[in-house]
Amino acid sequence: TRTAILISGRGSNMAALLAAARDPAYPAEIALVLSNRADAGGLARAAEAGVPTAVVESRGFRGDRAGFEAAMERVLAEHRIELIALAGFMRVLTPGFVARWEGRLVNIHPSLLPAFPGLDTHERAIAAGVRLHGCTVHLVSAGVDEGPVLIQAAVPVLPGDTPAALAARVLEQEHRIYPAALAWLAAGKVRLEAGQAVVEGTPA
Ligand code: GRF
Repeated sequence: TRTAILISGRGSNMAALLAAARDPAYPAEIALVLSNRADAGGLARAAEAGVPTAVVESRGFRGDRAGFEAAMERVLAEHRIELIALAGFMRVLTPGFVARWEGRLVNIHPSLLPAFPGLDTHERAIAAGVRLHGCTVHLVSAGVDEGPVLIQAAVPVLPGDTPAALAARVLEQEHRIYPAALAWLAAGKVRLEAGQAVVEGTPA
């Protein structure tokens, strides 16, 4: 399944997906890494790995989200992309874009959704005093950080944790669960039942 990874930054999740996809048996082929920022660190890492890269600068569109997305759609079509994995992509997609890619658009978020959607999740988890935190891979629906959950991983919040220490603990889990979830989706193992994702071959 020809897959694009959309990034805005350093691309450590992208790197984890690229590493998994190096296995010929992995069901997703990473056919494109697309960034909305020319200075995203992940672009160089993708190029080093021999993966085609593209930049569609969101800045150039000055709030014209539909125009920005139309430009992205052209690049995705050129590369015959069938599946999109958001990996630290810091642009909110319009409901139109999300609807067009329904069931073929996946995201990773650094919290145990529905807790802590949005930004600064590690800081907010510490401030809230929760003992468990983590990450979620989910199908994207119109709301920000909403949509059927595919997999989650939990980590403890430890006494004296800083946001950076907690982020590192969570990131390790992100790199483990995202390749697994993308493989399920690319292999056609995910179906929706009453708005929830059911993955074939995993315990309900
Ligand atoms: C990750 O924490 C991801 O969950 C969030 O943004 C961060 C991106 O990190 N959506 P990276 O670019 O994958 O290293």
